[in-house]
Amino acid sequence: MSKISDDPLYRDPSLAQFYDAANRWGPDFDFCMTLAEGAQSVLDLGCGTGELTAALAATRIVTGVDPAVAMLDIGRARPGGDRVEWIEGDARTVRLGKRYDLVVLTGHAFQVFLTEEDQRAALATIAVHLNPAGRFVFDTRNPGFQRERNVRHSSVRQLEHQELGVIEASGESHYDEATGVLSYENGYRVLATGEHFAGRSKILYTPRDKLSGLMRDAGLTVDAWYGDWEGNPFHTQSREIIPVGRLA
Ligand SMILES: C[S@@+](CC[C@H](N)C(=O)[O-])C[C@H]1O[C@@H](n2cnc3c(N)ncnc32)[C@H](O)[C@@H]1O
Repeated sequence: MSKISDDPLYRDPSLAQFYDAANRWGPDFDFCMTLAEGAQSVLDLGCGTGELTAALAATRIVTGVDPAVAMLDIGRARPGGDRVEWIEGDARTVRLGKRYDLVVLTGHAFQVFLTEEDQRAALATIAVHLNPAGRFVFDTRNPGFQRERNVRHSSVRQLEHQELGVIEASGESHYDEATGVLSYENGYRVLATGEHFAGRSKILYTPRDKLSGLMRDAGLTVDAWYGDWEGNPFHTQSREIIPVGRLA
């Protein structure tokens, strides 16, 4: 197993502070809230800054696990954060000794696992924390989606940060078709002060058929494969791969 992720985008507080401005509540969180209806307990693996985690905790028992203290600190401080059990831990190895009605990994957290061994370990963690009737959901970008085939990609956009004002967020990425690894750099410039922060990372793209085999090996079965968070079925060109399932 590779060593625990030391991704500066999440570990470094000066970079983690931009996560919420760059990643707003969206249809992924709406989908999870709907899926959680009826669930009395939820485990959020790779919970990050915990916007979804805290919302889920309004009416149920919720544990959020993430190795990045800088992200967890933001989660703890948010409204409703006091209702969440926050655990500094690794989704590949954490064992909480309890089971949940729903296990989620959102924000493409599954893609931080860069080796098959790490993916298998994360799927095993899902399996050991599911109640017999519990369900899981996660998302991973589809390598078959046309835009992801752009070998090099760059973008610049403006964001509004609650305390820092307007931020210019830039992204540069390079996708290696042979390995499915996307290497990227995210940069944030605070327009009011000119300060600039940047960090590099990598994520892995996995085809649906490969994922399907890994999940079977982990003792998981998939009830539905979605291709986006609007709930459309997966097809080979879908933007996302989103399995919803349970213990086999
Ligand atoms: C893109 S963020 C997603 C955060 C959150 N789930 C969301 O939807 O906003 C990916 C998260 O995965 C976390 N992460 C990285 N390595 C991890 C690991 N081994 N186990 C659990 N989480 C990990 C990062 O610290 C980061 O918070």
